[in-house]
Amino acid sequence: MRVTDIIEKKRDGGELSQAEIEFFVNGYARGDIPDYQAAAWCMTIFFRGMTPRETADLTLAMAHSGDMLDLHDIAPIVVDKHSSGGVGDKVSLVIAPLVAASGLHVGKMSGRGLSFSGGTLDKLESIAGYRVDLSETEFRQQLKEHGIVLSGQSKDLAPADGKLYALRDVTGSVPSTPLIASSIMSKKIAAGADAIVLDVKCGSGAFMKTPDEARVLAQTMVDIGKNLQRKVIALIGDMDQPLGHAIGNALEVKEAIETLHGRGPADLVEHSLVIAAHMLHLGEKVPSVEAGRALAEQLLADGSGYRKFLELVQAQGGDIGMVEHPDRLPHAPLISEVKADQAGYVHHINALEVGLTSVDLGAGRAQKGDPIDYAVGILLHVKVADRVEVGQTLFTVHANDPAKARAAEERLSRAITLGDETVKPLPLFYGIVS
Ligand code: URA
Repeated sequence: MRVTDIIEKKRDGGELSQAEIEFFVNGYARGDIPDYQAAAWCMTIFFRGMTPRETADLTLAMAHSGDMLDLHDIAPIVVDKHSSGGVGDKVSLVIAPLVAASGLHVGKMSGRGLSFSGGTLDKLESIAGYRVDLSETEFRQQLKEHGIVLSGQSKDLAPADGKLYALRDVTGSVPSTPLIASSIMSKKIAAGADAIVLDVKCGSGAFMKTPDEARVLAQTMVDIGKNLQRKVIALIGDMDQPLGHAIGNALEVKEAIETLHGRGPADLVEHSLVIAAHMLHLGEKVPSVEAGRALAEQLLADGSGYRKFLELVQAQGGDIGMVEHPDRLPHAPLISEVKADQAGYVHHINALEVGLTSVDLGAGRAQKGDPIDYAVGILLHVKVADRVEVGQTLFTVHANDPAKARAAEERLSRAITLGDETVKPLPLFYGIVS
């Protein structure tokens, strides 16, 4: 088999066989296929798409590119959650400890920042010492001892996704339904999750721009999971404005810690409680989603979720002093504000622009393997439908360079549209696919 033949077949609209997909995925994971051919292949999929059969084969090939964890000797049911990516989406940092505090085992394999969307691993690495590269043995051991793991692909687990993910991030091939579905589901399957809650985002700050596109992605992933005997549901979540106030790694960790202390922004708290309720139900901890909601609220209010987060950080080698005293997290030297130059109601917040501005400040990558600055980012002070007065602060910019700060201020000043008429707040969710 020749790599160029496979690329050309897909470029010309052909359907790849299981053998061709496995050849490609395994060759790339082993390092036999170079980045430039893999980038071309991803781009052909971006333009040509894949059939459901090809997407399922791609998912399985990526999951099998490393070890497949079977965690049933540790727990009868392991739950996981994954977001399709958004701006200010730090929900995993809140719900993983919240759900694990109930006694359910949460073994989560997360990703890094992708294009304009932040990634859980980058956020966690803003806590000094936090390790995201657990080996399979460490993953199992930690799940057994602590009931919670938040780790990334190691060379053992779904390594093909790890490599393709980093490549897609910097080659413009992220927003593709088969590539996103296979990326997410391969990680979930390799990491041994039995019950998976998917948070599929749609809107300007998501890869899927409309609820209908998000539903197609959600259904694709639910079908893949069901064929592999996993319990999967997908919530279609809004991403037409950033979630919470903080965008940027350490800023988001700080907001997640505040949320676990019961002081989080209303939209983030509500979003987290809904996802946690579904995880608790799907993981059979409670008989209904309503009971899951009540339990999640209790675990948040009594501090169990926060204590589990501390335990997680300690187990993965992080400095818990930074969690106990979030002011010790990395912080930027330059802080400036963007203020409203007119009064009105917030009609629209361009979440994509906010995410891209955060990346340009240094919170994300322009090239594969680029270092990121954990301290930089943005605080958003208003939400769609809020009333704004002249001079009110809309954004706070956290930067490490005066020119970047000015560019960010300029860009953010155009990212909010104000109008005279009142508008309705945005919904948090548009529906469920199960
Ligand atoms: N999250 C993932 O893990 N992969 C994607 O491709 C997008 C979001």
